[in-house]
Amino acid sequence: MMFPEYRARRLRQTDKLRAMVRETSISTDHLIYPLFVTAGKNVKEPISSMPGVYQMSVENIIREAKEAYDLGIPAILLFGIPEKKDSKGSHAWIKSGVVQRAIEAIKKEVPELVVITDVCLCEYTSHGHCGVVIKDKKKGHFRVENDATLELLQKIALSHARAGADMVAPSDMMDGRVGAIREALDENGFEHVPIMSYAVKYASSFYGPFRDAAECAPQFGDRRSYQMDIANRREALREATLDMEEGADILMVKPGMPYLDIISLLRQEFTLPIAAYQVSGEYSMIKAAAQNGWLSEEQVVFESLIAFRRAGADLIITYFAKDFAKSVNSLS
Ligand code: PBG
Repeated sequence: MMFPEYRARRLRQTDKLRAMVRETSISTDHLIYPLFVTAGKNVKEPISSMPGVYQMSVENIIREAKEAYDLGIPAILLFGIPEKKDSKGSHAWIKSGVVQRAIEAIKKEVPELVVITDVCLCEYTSHGHCGVVIKDKKKGHFRVENDATLELLQKIALSHARAGADMVAPSDMMDGRVGAIREALDENGFEHVPIMSYAVKYASSFYGPFRDAAECAPQFGDRRSYQMDIANRREALREATLDMEEGADILMVKPGMPYLDIISLLRQEFTLPIAAYQVSGEYSMIKAAAQNGWLSEEQVVFESLIAFRRAGADLIITYFAKDFAKSVNSLS
């Protein structure tokens, strides 16, 4: 009988040995916690398709942000559900908008927390699309106008920066938005505000629960004319290259778990930091299975986060941020 020289198992015998040779790690330092801010007073409205996630009005958002910061989470990502929606989404850039007020309040109460804002129109438009919608009279269908949307995105990003946002994150997928936002920020004295671009965002069905949370399901059609085809891989490189050239500081891939190959690809091709978004559907699947007793939530969450890091993500946006932080804090 021939015995192998190398035995992989030699280094797997104890916790200490395994930890010594572990190739990747995950800590709260890498996490970004998404929050949904809504109008009103003392609102904490559960989102039924995302157990444990709430729409919160400003005072409650402050409390949640502080709690996250105290648990060691360095950053939040803010989404707004406005008081009123209209066809242009004008509540997205007003000074008294929900996100703008939340930013100011959070920066006052928890100044060290990195406040990142989602820059998009879909939560603010009555039709639920991420841009300006026009009817193409000849063809008889609706179309999302790319260039007209860019001006509105500039206004939104600028209003967030003025309110004190530390970073903006455009999620609309219009072409040229990173360059347009960079220009607007630079011209107005916000050269120091970085852009985390949703560079590679697929037209995914995993966003379903988010659309309940942010009340932004499209009222007609879908987002496939501006979000990426789920079957494409090379296109991810084109999207990421464009965003890098336009001045993106961080490239994001979204969704996360079904797209680990894309994270890994970008990791090989780019030197910019990469963020992965573990989206609402990924969260809800794990929650639902855990609530049925089919999976161990704590372990599966840890495994999913380490998988993002192994694939090459520097940062992970996850609704599990607080749960993860609590479980590591209880160990130390
Ligand atoms: C809005 C936006 C979406 C998500 C983040 N920003 C939804 C969409 O594009 O339809 C999804 C986040 C999630 O599912 O957790 N443009």
